[in-house]
Amino acid sequence: MKWKLFFLLLIAQFCYGQTLNSPHSQLQLLFELDSAGRPIYQLSYKGNPVIDRSKLGFWISGNMDFSKDFTLIHTSNADVDKSWEPVMGEEKSIKNQYREMLVELQSKRGWKMNIRFRLYDDGLGFRYEFPIQEGLRHFRIDKEFTEFVLRDNAKAFWLPSDYDTNEFPTTISKISQIAHKIEEVRREPLAAKAPSKDLAVQTPLMLKTSQGLYVNIHEAALINFPAMHLKVDDERFSFEADLAPNKNGELAFLQTQQHSPWRTIIVSDDARDILKSKLILNLNEPSVIKDTSWIKPMKYIGVWWEYFTGGGSTWAYSNQQDVIIGTTDYRTLRPNHHHGANTAHVKKYIDFAAEHGFDGVLVEGWNEGWEDNWAYGKDEIYSFTKAYPDFDIAEISEYAKKKKVKMIMHHETTSSVINYERNLNDAFSLMNKYDYPLVKTGYVGPIIPRSEYHDSQWMVNHYAYVAQKAADYKIMVNSHEAARPTGLHRTFPNWIAQESARGTEFESFNGNPPNHTTILPFTRLVGGPMDYTPGIFRGDLSVYGKNKAKLSTTLVKQLALYVVMYSPLQMAADLPENYMKYADAFQFIKDVALDWDHSYILEAEPGEYITIARKTKNKPEWFVGSITNEKSRNAIIDFSFLPKGKVYQAEIYQDGEKADYTQSVIDYKIYKRRIKATSKISFPLKPSGGLAIKIVEEAR
Ligand code: NOJ
Ligand code: CA
Repeated sequence: MKWKLFFLLLIAQFCYGQTLNSPHSQLQLLFELDSAGRPIYQLSYKGNPVIDRSKLGFWISGNMDFSKDFTLIHTSNADVDKSWEPVMGEEKSIKNQYREMLVELQSKRGWKMNIRFRLYDDGLGFRYEFPIQEGLRHFRIDKEFTEFVLRDNAKAFWLPSDYDTNEFPTTISKISQIAHKIEEVRREPLAAKAPSKDLAVQTPLMLKTSQGLYVNIHEAALINFPAMHLKVDDERFSFEADLAPNKNGELAFLQTQQHSPWRTIIVSDDARDILKSKLILNLNEPSVIKDTSWIKPMKYIGVWWEYFTGGGSTWAYSNQQDVIIGTTDYRTLRPNHHHGANTAHVKKYIDFAAEHGFDGVLVEGWNEGWEDNWAYGKDEIYSFTKAYPDFDIAEISEYAKKKKVKMIMHHETTSSVINYERNLNDAFSLMNKYDYPLVKTGYVGPIIPRSEYHDSQWMVNHYAYVAQKAADYKIMVNSHEAARPTGLHRTFPNWIAQESARGTEFESFNGNPPNHTTILPFTRLVGGPMDYTPGIFRGDLSVYGKNKAKLSTTLVKQLALYVVMYSPLQMAADLPENYMKYADAFQFIKDVALDWDHSYILEAEPGEYITIARKTKNKPEWFVGSITNEKSRNAIIDFSFLPKGKVYQAEIYQDGEKADYTQSVIDYKIYKRRIKATSKISFPLKPSGGLAIKIVEEAR
């Protein structure tokens, strides 16, 4: 009898596929080969399909179809339940609990491909692995067939596919409306123009189904592969992998023993779980850096916002153009008298940083070449080692050292990437010599000279190469305009932040709508910390002269962003004079922590509102941040995340009655209140407003 049952089960397995339950059975995965030997997967959440039968596989090297004619050779399973500690993060310890299934496939033609599935309670990751085999060694990926079939006209929070940039505002629409809206989005003046030839969107893609399920599609551990965009099928409500090609249309070059990044699907019926999920980090490899003691959170100010305000400050030293790096003697150029990165001005920033407890000062426009900032066709635009004549690097670093402030380096490459790689050792040696612990890199414009896309395999490898090389010099990296993150900050913990979305700079072009930061934590931040550079107090830029832009938030919302938008690297982006003017509100930026023991996602709905509380690492201190879109609302805060039986002092920063982002009216109130773990309090938030709270135990 027993044998009969076993036999039946075995047959069922081969006919009906393999199933895998997540550790607490929230999710169920079905894998099978259909009658044509096509690998198919399906994902169910609490018993209902969330991803319907979806294809897997590739087209390889012109004539090799790796999506059908497969038989299942072997299956193996593993149960993993471990914890690990990130160098910095939202949680001190991260639980990594999943069930794994490795399916080994062989096609009629003898080709082999394995698919490794890892099923968590909050989502699924799977990747393709190419074992060593006869008849296949080096190969080219021509197409990836991976599908995500929803069969539901879900609400999507999407960016149009563009292989060069992710600096778009998010459009919210039903999947069926994407085709209709995408042209409008692409006409936006600040949008770059390297779209997929198909109707496609970018990841992380956030979806809300008509049954109220929250689904996030992205990828983890993107190395040696192009970034995945998603081709939209608006009839089946499904998405298919759309890999960023090189300019010859080739997608990726691989060899056997290599694998794809993880394709990820995070699912829950509670939006807060999307923000809690550590699936992307868990799917990345542990740190390759053994001694991480030099990797530290940083709060910084910078000679930066003054370039955007319209006040006249410039990155360039002179108004002359066509300078030639290595040939032009800058001492012979006439300075333009607006150059931001001059020694005296930088020293004032250092003084300000020292006085208010900041770790670092970023200085942009310190190096030769900015006169030709827009000369995208030139191979060598900037020097990464030669400072302008009025920026005395030795004197500045001496001064900073005396004041116990670190200088932050800036390397704008204008995407002249080979030139940057050529100069990397010298550039990092200079940083070591003058004790700069962190570099902000930048990739504005098209990639020179290879005409690669920012999201291509070649560029993906470049970003990782820079992170690794920087680690050799004990340097931390903050990359701007790179492909969006996929959790690689676990493997390279010195790659502490990225921009890779629309940051605060777009406030100076009127480009960030009020709902922007209520969406980013559900999209861009799913991959990793963002150098969003919040903290703008002076919302009306017309006070500086030329710029008419207005900040799209209240002042208090700017404070709340330090808690809501997790990053171990945080900038106070406004001008020091504005912080002096609103010194009481500035206190919150000075106080807020950067590294945490625990995070508590209290309220969340993408595009609407987010309320998060976090406990400072190794300290009995908590911060709360709450933000809303253009609608006013109440944040209802349940303080039960605090240890019971104690009395706490809460310092509350709240939108004032007259606070109005549309008119840049600055109005806020700051007050203290006693609270306990049993407190539950409703706080009003104005349109595009916020709430920021610091909590400490009350002194006895
Ligand atoms: C774009 C970056 O995002 C911004 O922060 C920087 O100031 C400019 N490029 C110039 O490098
Ligand atoms: Ca940027």
